[in-house]
Amino acid sequence: MVTGNDSNRPTDEVGVALIGAGYWGVNYARVLNEIPGARLVSVVDSSEERLREVARRFPRIRSEGAVDRVLADRSVHAVVIATPTITHYEIASRALSAGKHVLVEKPMTTRLDDAINLTEIASKADRTLMVGHTFVYNQGIMAMKRMIDEGKVGRIYYLQSTRTHLGLIRQDVDALWDLAPHDIAIFNLFLNSTPEWVSAISGRYLRDDRADVAFVTLGYPKGTLANIHISWIDSNKVRQVTVVGSHQRIVFDDLNAMEPVRIFETGASMAADLNSFGEFKLSLRDGAIISPKIPVAEPLRTLCQDFVRCIRSGEPPIADAESGAEVVRVLEAIDRSLTLGGCRADVRTGAVRR
Ligand SMILES: NC(=O)c1ccc[n+]([C@@H]2O[C@H](COP(=O)([O-])OP(=O)(O)OC[C@H]3O[C@@H](n4cnc5c(N)ncnc54)[C@H](O)[C@@H]3O)[C@@H](O)[C@H]2O)c1
Repeated sequence: MVTGNDSNRPTDEVGVALIGAGYWGVNYARVLNEIPGARLVSVVDSSEERLREVARRFPRIRSEGAVDRVLADRSVHAVVIATPTITHYEIASRALSAGKHVLVEKPMTTRLDDAINLTEIASKADRTLMVGHTFVYNQGIMAMKRMIDEGKVGRIYYLQSTRTHLGLIRQDVDALWDLAPHDIAIFNLFLNSTPEWVSAISGRYLRDDRADVAFVTLGYPKGTLANIHISWIDSNKVRQVTVVGSHQRIVFDDLNAMEPVRIFETGASMAADLNSFGEFKLSLRDGAIISPKIPVAEPLRTLCQDFVRCIRSGEPPIADAESGAEVVRVLEAIDRSLTLGGCRADVRTGAVRR
């Protein structure tokens, strides 16, 4: 049962507590301290060292070592959870049950059942539950989504994503659960769907029990294929997403500040041959390369603004709870495929084709 503050869709300032102020959490502290409509009330971290750092950087913000006080505090309408992945479910379920709106970092949970459970608790309690899929709030990715929806890319044939770098190497999850949520969230957004099947191969080089590098193929509806390559042991930092369609190829490069999105007006398709009845002929398009103007905005800020807007309005955020659970569903299917050496795993039914 949900307890706590029941008029919990504030019309004025949204009081927020940040739980977890490590490498990523401090960025939330900065953004939440700056954006209009939000008031960072408190920062919680179990590490005294992190709390000292927060106190140094944000001397006016209350800081504490456990979540109990913020969960009982009626001036805290919402919590942002940026703790290690294995702690997400427990903290998020406690916060929702205390009547808070929740923004939980990616991946939402380590089990699909837990993600669905959180989604149901939030829905029953009419609380906003959102997941930190930062890249779906990236202006370049948002521009690509608009181009796809407007039909400019044509029929989407396949998508490809590369996310490699040296580190950060996590202790609680493997490189797939740490890095691939971004790419799965982007692909699901672009295609408005979840893959039907996945097939994955991984390599374990640093430890025996954890993937450091992986190659994942995803089969989406209508025969659209996608591929993700992730690695946290590759010194070449790459953050690229490519969409190949019948009319255009569009490329997102997060490391190219000048031209984050490039559109290649090229594509291959089969068109009806007007000179011969019932025949089709290959049509190759070869056109310009365009760099559209992409607004400059920090994705985390856009994400936090969406959280605050949705808390007030009750509308679903772009990175809503369902999209977070779908990403976990795909990750679980990837794990099933990995244990069977790359066999196709059906994302919905769990069946594996050997
Ligand atoms: N969206 C993104 O682009 C992005 C980028 C980096 C990290 N992340 C996610 O953010 C989360 C945190 O990652 P990080 O790199 O900041 O990790 P981190 O280890 O640097 O920080 C985690 C912090 O949580 C604290 N903590 C752990 N358990 C706690 C608990 N029960 N209560 C309160 N505090 C607790 C730790 O003391 C630490 O300060 C992860 O889920 C990660 O996947 C997301």
